[in-house]
Amino acid sequence: MPPWTYIQDIAGLDGREVVLKGWLQNKRSSGKLHFLQLRDGTGTIQCVVFKGDVDADVFSVADHLPQESSMIVTGVVRAEPRSPSGFEISVKHLSVVTRAQEYPITPKEHGIAFLLDHRHLWLRSSRQHAILRIRSELIKASRHYFDSRGFTLLDAPVFTPSACEGTTTLFEVDYFGEPAYLTQSGQLYMEAGAMALGKVYCFGPTFRAEKSKTRRHLMEFWMIEPEVAYFELQDDMDLAEDFVETIVHHVLTRCSEELNVLDRNVTKLEKIRKPFPRMTYGEAVERLKKQGVAFEWGNDFGADEETKIAEWFDLPVIVHRYPAACKAFYMKNDPEDPNISLSMDMLAPEGAGEIVGGGQREDNLETLQNKIAAHDLPMEDFSWYLDVRRYGSVPHAGFGMGIERVVRWVCGIDHVREAIPFPRMLERLRP
Ligand code: 4AD
Ligand code: MG
Repeated sequence: MPPWTYIQDIAGLDGREVVLKGWLQNKRSSGKLHFLQLRDGTGTIQCVVFKGDVDADVFSVADHLPQESSMIVTGVVRAEPRSPSGFEISVKHLSVVTRAQEYPITPKEHGIAFLLDHRHLWLRSSRQHAILRIRSELIKASRHYFDSRGFTLLDAPVFTPSACEGTTTLFEVDYFGEPAYLTQSGQLYMEAGAMALGKVYCFGPTFRAEKSKTRRHLMEFWMIEPEVAYFELQDDMDLAEDFVETIVHHVLTRCSEELNVLDRNVTKLEKIRKPFPRMTYGEAVERLKKQGVAFEWGNDFGADEETKIAEWFDLPVIVHRYPAACKAFYMKNDPEDPNISLSMDMLAPEGAGEIVGGGQREDNLETLQNKIAAHDLPMEDFSWYLDVRRYGSVPHAGFGMGIERVVRWVCGIDHVREAIPFPRMLERLRP
């Protein structure tokens, strides 16, 4: 029996006999030849069945195979310059594992609702395959970035007793008779972890009951959140900038084929080099107003403003020092102006908008107690968090980056629903 080989490893096996295991993506026939496109998850390759090379029953089975039938092919690897992979397979034998029923996703156009209903099958198409491979590489690069710089991975809990990012987007669950919430962010736990381990990060699913339909909000998304003791806002921005530059270039190096499938204009991504422009919220508002945008100081930026700001540079822009009222309770105030917080967001170009949010945390016990009270949050649920200030409080900062937002930007797709394997949206829990 020749060795089982994956399509991605075919190069270098020219002339050798191999076994491939996969699914039938597409088929065409002409007289004595069947051309079967075999997909195995690592790639697609054309398998040529010539009537003279195989048993008569194999030739006739190949003639009537429906799309997505699973099959095992034995054949010889042949260099074929006209094929996208540079190779094809001359089939010697073919066995069908399971004949597929009539496949609902055909090469014709389908509506988005239909495709989302069939997300479990839609994953097999080449675009979705490319997006999910890029997502996987982005996650790998993100973890490697922190792992190789002395950060400790510290997993945050998913069940939490309190809100981190405002009480309006909490998913409540019954925790043995007590209300609990699915986590909105691991940050508060990372702050405690940074005091124990210096540099920490978590990467996990986070949940927001966002009651709006936009192209960048999911109910469940994955966030990577570093937190560093003795870091101030400036250090935090430097880290975010270096991190984003690194992971974008990792994808450019590792995923050229996938970016090509997506028709992504990579010259825009190649230009993503630090330093990224930085401006205060106040400066951004002034500039927006000069361009005739009606905008009041004190409001948070919406998608339109974020798109405009990033268009000024065609690079990710770090906007810092937002009004304290726009941001969460844990933000430290600017010592020079109590109305301003030491916060920062990174806004990506091409309409991607906010991909990173973070800042320096309030490290004074009393000020933090006042903020918790001012936000009407239950003090008792934060007593453990206040301990972080009671016992050797230090300046510290961190940020969160939503992976789907970055996948959407890097892939150049217009909606986050394609940036996660099984999206959870306002009106979608299935499949
Ligand atoms: O700006 P956010 O709400 O910040 C936090 O949660 C902080 N506690 C993070 C921290 O400092 N450790 O969210 C951070 C990022 C956003 O910039 C965005 O990339 C993503 O998480 N995000 C979402 N992604 C998809 N769908 C949603 N509903 C998202 N909400 C936030
Ligand atoms: Mg934010």
